[in-house]
Amino acid sequence: MITGNKEIERAYWNQGKNNEQYEENNFTVWTDRMAREKIIGHLDKILCDSTYIVADLGCGPGHILPYLSPLCGTVMKIDYAEEMLKVAESRNTDLTNIVYKHDDMRDLQRWYDTFDIAIATNSILPNSIDDADQMVIEIFKSLKEGGVCVAVMPSIETSNWLARLQYKSYREDGLSEEDAKREVYKEFEEKSFDGLFGFMRDGPENLVQKYFYYKEIKYMFKEAGFNILSLEELPYGWEHSRKYGYGYFPGEKEIFDWLVIAEKPNSESLSTNLT
Ligand SMILES: C[S@@+](CC[C@H](N)C(=O)[O-])C[C@H]1O[C@@H](n2cnc3c(N)ncnc32)[C@H](O)[C@@H]1O
Repeated sequence: MITGNKEIERAYWNQGKNNEQYEENNFTVWTDRMAREKIIGHLDKILCDSTYIVADLGCGPGHILPYLSPLCGTVMKIDYAEEMLKVAESRNTDLTNIVYKHDDMRDLQRWYDTFDIAIATNSILPNSIDDADQMVIEIFKSLKEGGVCVAVMPSIETSNWLARLQYKSYREDGLSEEDAKREVYKEFEEKSFDGLFGFMRDGPENLVQKYFYYKEIKYMFKEAGFNILSLEELPYGWEHSRKYGYGYFPGEKEIFDWLVIAEKPNSESLSTNLT
């Protein structure tokens, strides 16, 4: 069941804007070289069967399509923003194994037990903890037994890391400890930063989005029934970060989101787990 009134979020994505800044700022996994190469390295190992039905959940304008299409049987592009689907479709008219579906990840009932692989890159970011939980549960149900979910989840730890780097830079500029902290606080207050539950205003139109802690992701995926195969940082290059106002600290460890790869156990492994 779909909870809450999330029309503001949907309207935001439904603008289906077709310009470079909107694209790069909102679809970083595919527009940032460092992130793209890392996730493709993982997908290359998983996409080993040309009959697979692969879902791209919350697909956006479809940057992943030219890569995915030749590697699997069918790609299901699912998004609740119709305009996003239209942009994706208009850019990929030459690809024949793509099915575009207008649907909400909070209720994937019509797709239960359908997908071999479900990809959700930065599409689990609702302004609601319950919705985020629900999306992970629905992804679990939409997978076949033994199916794999590859998700990129916005990381809240990145804010803490950026704050630390910004603080250091203010101190190097000669600000006192108090003043340096005040400057950093200012920036995070403007974003209505909620570190306890992981919410923050972000993106060009300051939409409130959910960010996740490492432990929270582990908890959510396990609660949904998944076996987590790996959970690691997906770093973004500093050039990209500078371009979109997240700071520029070359030489330091990059900012990152979380890349989680998790499996829906099959009946055999389920019974093994129970003994
Ligand atoms: C940040 S964009 C990411 C797009 C794409 N996955 C990528 O990495 O480039 C978030 C996308 O998720 C979609 N989305 C957000 N919540 C959704 C939901 N509940 N159901 C379906 N799509 C959703 C939005 O419409 C948008 O296209």
